[in-house]
Amino acid sequence: MGHPMFAYDEKATEAIFAYCRERLAMDPVPLDYGGLFEIPVDEVAGLITQDGRPVEEVLDFFERALAPAVVSIDAPTFLAFIPNSPTKNSLLFDMVVACSGLNGTSWLEAAGVVTAENQALDFLAQRAGLPEGSGGAFVSGGSMGNLASLTVARDVGRARHPELAPHDVRIAISADAHASVGKALHVIGVEALEVPTPDHRFTVEALRAALAADPNPSSVVAIVATAGTTNAGIVDDLEGLGQYARANDLWFHVDGAYGGAAMLAPSHREVFAGLRHADSFVVDPHKWLFAPLDCAALLYRNPTIARTVLAQQAGYLDILHVADDEDYEWNPSDFAIHLSRRARGLPFWFSLVTYGVGAYESAIERGIELATLTERLVRESDHLEMVRPASLSIALFRRPGWSEERYNAWSLQLLRDQVAFVTPTKWEGETIARFAFLHPDTDETVIRAVLESMRD
Ligand SMILES: Cc1ncc(COP(=O)(O)O)c(C=O)c1O
Repeated sequence: MGHPMFAYDEKATEAIFAYCRERLAMDPVPLDYGGLFEIPVDEVAGLITQDGRPVEEVLDFFERALAPAVVSIDAPTFLAFIPNSPTKNSLLFDMVVACSGLNGTSWLEAAGVVTAENQALDFLAQRAGLPEGSGGAFVSGGSMGNLASLTVARDVGRARHPELAPHDVRIAISADAHASVGKALHVIGVEALEVPTPDHRFTVEALRAALAADPNPSSVVAIVATAGTTNAGIVDDLEGLGQYARANDLWFHVDGAYGGAAMLAPSHREVFAGLRHADSFVVDPHKWLFAPLDCAALLYRNPTIARTVLAQQAGYLDILHVADDEDYEWNPSDFAIHLSRRARGLPFWFSLVTYGVGAYESAIERGIELATLTERLVRESDHLEMVRPASLSIALFRRPGWSEERYNAWSLQLLRDQVAFVTPTKWEGETIARFAFLHPDTDETVIRAVLESMRD
């Protein structure tokens, strides 16, 4: 008799599979209530006991008392922040990853996983126009991808500029770069050159002007562009900034965590053409590539440089690193600040292979159409105004006369009424409304209902 925690339990398995089947069959997934739901905290308090409880009982409790206290990020009516809309096949395969003990740390342990993950990474690299030989790993999110990339950028910058003291190298970013970029620079001890951008778009002209006005422009060793700003969906001047980086030997990092996926939208190919200049590029399958959390693709033009900076070395790991550069066997753990890792790229890979590229192209295109539709409806209305044109799958609009408190109350009421999850944002100091679309099944009637709810 083995240990009870490792014994197969048919009844428990059936109960869990039944729950998962029920969730998967929901169409649409209900929004639910997040923090608005009252959790029975007294019942939670007594749950952990010396002898444990039956699976069915705890699953029932979870379903009744905890699950409704989560706004389902995969509901087509989740239009706040950046949603997460995993395809059915990606969710199914996530269960395979969970149940198969699949890890994705090294080639030696997990060549099968690495082969599949690298196929998905190669697909993204090709679509970004990166050269053959580009590669990297799937990491937990855009924040981690930015941190790893900028660590490599810093070390490469230091190596290229031995005349600079190590802490004098700087990295050029725009004010609209994602908060994780600023945080990454804080972690790695690098100062930012924050480039003013008159219309929130980081262009090569803005960079040139900032460098011309700066007392120490030669300390800037890298540029961070955003391919789809989080707040407004703006794609920076990838072509201009990328060419400038190439010509001046600067590292060019593109944060496409949210918007990079739109490189697959037939209508937007040109906008992303400058991605081909990137030294490092992040795009999150857990955002607009319809994979479950947590999954970000991190790609380097020259992966050898990245693993020289980031691979962890230890006696017990030497067996993973015996091959020389020529015969390097791919260890995903070498390309970011992590070691043990879940095979988190596999749900995306499985979904991409099963549905095909065309399904991705049309689903991404649909998000862009929904933002364009919102813009039309807002412009046709007599009570709302666009703040700026819709960009990628984001629409920013205002209800003239509303205070921040009014927007907040409206947002909570929409959630309470289970209409949609829409949260306000700030734009140039003003509180406004924002839709972020990802799910291709978001219904036009929901958009109309939310806009109508802003009349009073
Ligand atoms: C442009 C951009 N970069 C980075 C991030 C951070 O990504 P994650 O939440 O996966 O860490 C986000 C998140 O929305 C983003 O939009």
